[in-house]
Amino acid sequence: MPTFVIALQLKIFTTKNELQQYLSEVRASGKTTGFVPTMGALHQGHLSLLAQARQQTDVTVCSIFVNPTQFNDPKDLDKYPRPIAADTEKLQQAGCDILFNPPVTEIYAGDEHWHLDIGELEHLLEGEFRPGHYQGVMQVVHKLFDIVKPDAAFFGQKDYQQFMVISRMVSQLQMPVKLVMCPIEREPDGLAMSSRNIHLTIDDRRHALILSKALYQAQASFDPAHPEAAKQQAEQMITSEPGTQLEYFAIADGDTLHPANPKSTKIVALVAAKVGATRLIDNVIIK
Ligand code: PAJ
Repeated sequence: MPTFVIALQLKIFTTKNELQQYLSEVRASGKTTGFVPTMGALHQGHLSLLAQARQQTDVTVCSIFVNPTQFNDPKDLDKYPRPIAADTEKLQQAGCDILFNPPVTEIYAGDEHWHLDIGELEHLLEGEFRPGHYQGVMQVVHKLFDIVKPDAAFFGQKDYQQFMVISRMVSQLQMPVKLVMCPIEREPDGLAMSSRNIHLTIDDRRHALILSKALYQAQASFDPAHPEAAKQQAEQMITSEPGTQLEYFAIADGDTLHPANPKSTKIVALVAAKVGATRLIDNVIIK
């Protein structure tokens, strides 16, 4: 008997109408949809979300959209990598069913205002250093969920606070989607994978390792009676690393992102720093 290898074709949509029409047929056939929103420059971290989506749902949709409203620095938006041909190839190889890659005009009609009050979560940690960032993230994720209407959506623990913000939006607006948090994919030496890593010089790349080292050190030495000690030690490690400018290191309650306390049932260590000209974030779950 001859064997056939069927290469499934990645379907690419750039307009909401065509995507929605196709997805309504998918739903009508009783299939579930899994959604992985991204800004492209795909790496193993993004592909691990896709693998989870493929395991848990019938049809996978990945979006690539560099969302202007979540960038507070226009230079950062300009220099955000956009290797669309390589990304398409990676999605095809990974067995993704659908890529949604709209132009900005397809998502934003022009002058529009968005604000959802999710309380102080928006202003802590990342929110303090990137004012308005999470409003932009919620705005685009809300629009994308509205277009794709996925049964489940997959996000990385890499952006721990982003996951909390999106969960808060979904529960406040009672959006019918299940959110799944997937673990952080790292380089063999510990550096968390990120689309921004390509901006690191050889020296930056070496210095950047201090972030995961400090997080693991905090995880290993954490003593619930003295949470400040592990934090101080980690801060010390990062501030002594050349070429590295610490923004925050927090040992936080995993449900509130306030400093961890003896009653915290979930504890996470989170860090943000500029390494050379590149801003990096990372975290580890301590408890
Ligand atoms: P982006 O930075 O492209 O990330 C897309 C998804 O990949 C996010 O859920 C992020 O947490 C996850 N991710 C990134 N690096 C990862 C890693 N090393 N391991 C596992 N997952 C990783 O996050 C965004 O885009 C945007 O804010 C978006 C949600 C698409 C809204 O514009």
